[in-house]
Amino acid sequence: MKVKNLRLTAVMALTAALLSLQSCNGDDPKGPDCNIPNADLSYTLNIKNIIDQQCISCHAPGSGVAGAVGDFRTYSGLSAYLKNGKILNAVVIDKSMPQGGGMSQAQRDSINCWIASNYPE
Ligand code: HEC
Repeated sequence: MKVKNLRLTAVMALTAALLSLQSCNGDDPKGPDCNIPNADLSYTLNIKNIIDQQCISCHAPGSGVAGAVGDFRTYSGLSAYLKNGKILNAVVIDKSMPQGGGMSQAQRDSINCWIASNYPE
């Protein structure tokens, strides 16, 4: 009986350790945990193409979409909305963006992890 309990405890500890390894930022995740190693994510390498595909048809000057804030074609255009938490909220937390849907969970996860690692350029 005691041996069984020990084993169960060991399995649970191992599982917890593995789960914490999977999240990209143990200290202070800003959104739900992400499962992509954060060191691999940068705006230039991973994120820009997602934003280009999913956001700039509305969020760029001249799109003609009323209320679509900002100019998301560049890192500097995005940064105010990264800093004020609105992109995390819109894409990861309430998933209200992109308007009309069409974003994969993998893309949302990438953005979540990128933001959790302080959105490196
Ligand atoms: C089809 C057009 C369209 C697309 C595509 C789109 N948006 Fe939006 N977005 C809007 C409109 C319209 C608003 C203003 C109305 C609203 O907040 O729902 C908005 C508002 C926002 C806001 C401000 C919300 C707030 O609380 O002030 C953010 C942030 C945002 N979008 C991010 C994004 C991101 C990131 C993407 C791509 C993943 C995206 N949007 C794709 C049309 C779009």
